[in-house]
Amino acid sequence: MMAYPVWVDGKENGCLDPADRGLAYGDGLFETLRVEAGRVVFLDLHLARLQAGARALDIPLDSHLLLQELLRFLTNCPATCIAKIIVTRGSGGRGYLYSADLSPSIILSAHPLSAYPESFQAEGIDAVLCTSRLALQPRLAGHKHLNRLEQVLLRQELAGTSADEGLVCDMQGRVVEGVFNNVFMVRLGELLTPRIEAAGIRGVFREAVIQESAAAGAPVREDELYPDDFLAADEVFFCNSVNGVWPVKSLAGRHWAPGTVTRYWQDYWRKQLG
Ligand SMILES: Cc1ncc(COP(=O)(O)O)c(C=O)c1O
Repeated sequence: MMAYPVWVDGKENGCLDPADRGLAYGDGLFETLRVEAGRVVFLDLHLARLQAGARALDIPLDSHLLLQELLRFLTNCPATCIAKIIVTRGSGGRGYLYSADLSPSIILSAHPLSAYPESFQAEGIDAVLCTSRLALQPRLAGHKHLNRLEQVLLRQELAGTSADEGLVCDMQGRVVEGVFNNVFMVRLGELLTPRIEAAGIRGVFREAVIQESAAAGAPVREDELYPDDFLAADEVFFCNSVNGVWPVKSLAGRHWAPGTVTRYWQDYWRKQLG
């Protein structure tokens, strides 16, 4: 069986400098990719988000070189796996201030697919309303940066419940996303998702749904949404680019059967896997 490799700056089992700013300050970005039959699903959207994040953080990332290294890396990985890209600003001594001449560190790693029960897709999941909230930071919102302590706390909170995912709000009580997914709802035939402006991650699958819906002439409404909007919805689903679409079958006493819009996006997801 093929092993799951880790490369640091192009070297198998290479070392990361303890002074790397990714480690010291979370000064960097990451992407988690679904690899099916040797092909990265939604590759262009992942690279676009990474590039947008690098631009926002002023990290001089050469996307072309990164792509070449990723493709070389994947030839050494199991054909179906999860691949992770971490890009940090690089190694930069002590102190927050960085110098402009740092060169980014690139860590590539492969992992087995997560083993979620088949029922998550088929019948749906149980969700809770999380109590821990997301801070507001418009300059970082949307980007998949390495500062993920909020999600670490949220994942721990979720582990203390019997639920499979949680609806996460910002400090003003607006729903943002799930603990490790984006979230959509259907209301009177219309597809809605929270705006990602002050908190949260602009997920690749979320972006694919938005782009496909716009192209089909039925744009997704990105809106200010509250927990009560989700409780009153006709359908609710969580989604990410690695695990696909999970219908919500229960949330705070409300129950649903998976609806037709949710099933449509599940089919779309399966088609992307090839
Ligand atoms: C907090 C959070 N939001 C959204 C997502 C969805 O991201 P994507 O569709 O890019 O996988 C993830 C995925 O890991 C996540 O952790």
